[in-house]
Amino acid sequence: MMLGRLNHVGIACPSIDAMVETYQSLFGATLSTPAFDLPTQGVRVAFIDVANSQLELIEPLGDDSPIHGFLKKHPAGGQHHVCFEVEDIIAARDLMRARGATVLGTGEPRIGAHGVPVIFLHPKNTGGVLVELMASPEGH
Ligand code: CO
Repeated sequence: MMLGRLNHVGIACPSIDAMVETYQSLFGATLSTPAFDLPTQGVRVAFIDVANSQLELIEPLGDDSPIHGFLKKHPAGGQHHVCFEVEDIIAARDLMRARGATVLGTGEPRIGAHGVPVIFLHPKNTGGVLVELMASPEGH
């Protein structure tokens, strides 16, 4: 079993600020990481803490943002991906390929919102769910 902790659930939205306000007013949620730009992934990101995981709010950043297409289909926003921690991101990528999954992009891990390498698996392999795998951050 290679899947570690559920690190976060990604939620795409047209406005992080509006989403934060919604989660705060509905649930009393607290922001663990205020919104910041992640230009390498074409998104603006903020994290909300929940007891055993996090929500990753993502908003498009720039014209080439990979989530423009998603928001065209889901204009009000929606659940975008789930992210699991893995011990070794390269080993996980190679194993996924060996088992027939499609790793998005070049397959070279990129630095994700937590500052550690991540890859994404094509949803066609995972029941329509976009899966992000990330190297376990130190300290977990
Ligand atoms: Co994510």
